[in-house]
Amino acid sequence: MSVYPIIMTQSKFIHQDHLSYPFEERGLQFGDGIYEVIRIYNGKYYLFEEHVDRLFRSAAAIKINLPFSKDELSNLLLQLLDKNKMKTNGKVYMQVTRGSAPRDHVFPIDVLPNIYAYIEDLPRKLENLRNGVNAITERDIRWENCYIKSLNLLPNVLAKQAAKENGCYEAILHKDGLVTECSSSNVYLVKDGEIYTHPTTNNILYGCVRMAIERFARELNIPFHEDGFTVEDIGMADELFLSSSTSEIMPIVKVDNTQISNGKPGKVTKLLQAAYEKDALINENEVTQTT
Ligand code: PDD
Repeated sequence: MSVYPIIMTQSKFIHQDHLSYPFEERGLQFGDGIYEVIRIYNGKYYLFEEHVDRLFRSAAAIKINLPFSKDELSNLLLQLLDKNKMKTNGKVYMQVTRGSAPRDHVFPIDVLPNIYAYIEDLPRKLENLRNGVNAITERDIRWENCYIKSLNLLPNVLAKQAAKENGCYEAILHKDGLVTECSSSNVYLVKDGEIYTHPTTNNILYGCVRMAIERFARELNIPFHEDGFTVEDIGMADELFLSSSTSEIMPIVKVDNTQISNGKPGKVTKLLQAAYEKDALINENEVTQTT
């Protein structure tokens, strides 16, 4: 199974075939909305509160009033798992737009947000997690409010497509050489056993997996610096890795055709991967670690 049949919309549960929107819909016409992607392991959400909190932050940032509290939303999302009898590894995609209204840039008055959430299977990318992936570097041409998880993803889409066309998994974005994040993940450099990554300013999305990584680093006594690195620094990195709900903690072993260190996932990355698997209560038979 891929997408599960029952979806949540406007606090109700319906069959996916019954969801339709008018063509004058603000998400469709303006990208006027926000979204979240939450990982599911063995039928349970991982980093659930962090994602729900971020959805509310994103909504507030673009002045959308959500018609429910955090508890009510959490409850609806939990029911979505139950109603679909979800037991495997997957993800939920949830989207909130400003609503349906005649096309006009100005916010419509008295219009309810359009909301939906659906779940689908997503096996872990074990090969990539074990062996690492390749990346390219691309200019970060996005706007100044990347901390909002907005539907406006055109620069991200173009960067990811460029990565794909170059046979790579991700595009590492940079502003004038300073690395911000990737097209759909956060990125980190390891040097002399210490982690470096862009500070959580408006220029990046504060990833929920990053929040977990900060916690793991504290627990493992690995120094974590909110200190950006440059494209040039990548050449001298001991390790490089990315993080997201769908990619977990993924080693990067080659950038723009240049190998990182010995071309294998590094020690710090592996320690963090092990901490992640423990934290997410991932099944024993699915662990990436061989040592
Ligand atoms: N992307 N940065 C960007 C630009 C992202 O799109 C994402 C997530 C992240 C990592 O966030 P988190 O750790 O909370 O997943 C960072 C999701 C998975 C997506 O758009 O599909």
